[in-house]
Amino acid sequence: MSAGGADRDADPTETSSTHEPSSLRERLRALPTFAPGLPTFDPDATPSDPVTLFRAWIEEAIDAGVPLPHAMTLATSGASREVHARTVILKDVDASGWWFATGASSPKARDLAENPHAALTFLWPVLGRQVRVAGPVTPAAPATSATDFLARPDGSRAAALVGHQSEALTSRQEYRDAFAGALARVQHDATLIDPAWTAYALAPTSVEFWQASDDRGQTRLRYRASGHDWEKGLLWP
Ligand SMILES: Cc1cc2nc3c(=O)[nH]c(=O)nc-3n(C[C@H](O)[C@H](O)[C@H](O)COP(=O)(O)O)c2cc1C
Repeated sequence: MSAGGADRDADPTETSSTHEPSSLRERLRALPTFAPGLPTFDPDATPSDPVTLFRAWIEEAIDAGVPLPHAMTLATSGASREVHARTVILKDVDASGWWFATGASSPKARDLAENPHAALTFLWPVLGRQVRVAGPVTPAAPATSATDFLARPDGSRAAALVGHQSEALTSRQEYRDAFAGALARVQHDATLIDPAWTAYALAPTSVEFWQASDDRGQTRLRYRASGHDWEKGLLWP
């Protein structure tokens, strides 16, 4: 580590003579967080509900060319109380909440069956923005899940039909064979539905909007559900 003495003093792991200098640590410390030119965020000019603000922010993320702006981290915790997080794709945002979809036998679906409370996080670095959404998750009616399934491209429908998500795989060939079989089925029958495919809606009890700024620190605005209304409040960064 070739950082200055102040840095070394601040991190006790770097004073050990047995530790090799960490070039990764140097590189990580040298990384900028956000590029200049971030948008400004005036909490006083925000709508009364978080869905309207979220829809505006994700539209801006799409317009700004943020890669995969609809990719979000979904954190769940089942009966074991272990926390599991993974990326899923946002399908829609409406009065029911934030929509995603997965197989009903996946570990995340099992977590949600045991404990519906979950959290979502979006990061849109180009805009210096993060959004955190938390609340209970409800599976959709089969017809809604079927509609979502049929809207997926052939390969995505085949991948879902294969199933066994997150189970141990003996060989890549075993998966290739299963995928090829599933692809043939969906291509043969465009109406084929995977009954395990399930759409879920997270109905938020809290939504937090986080905005970095070029020179004034961060702004955090949290909406909290209060009956049928929302209470807004600022948070210390
Ligand atoms: C960009 C991206 C998008 C993904 N979208 C989904 C999705 O919408 N649904 C899904 O079940 N898995 C999706 N995955 C895979 C999950 O991250 C995860 O690997 C898988 O669902 C198994 O998770 P589980 O074992 O926690 O159930 C996505 C992965 C990436 C990297």
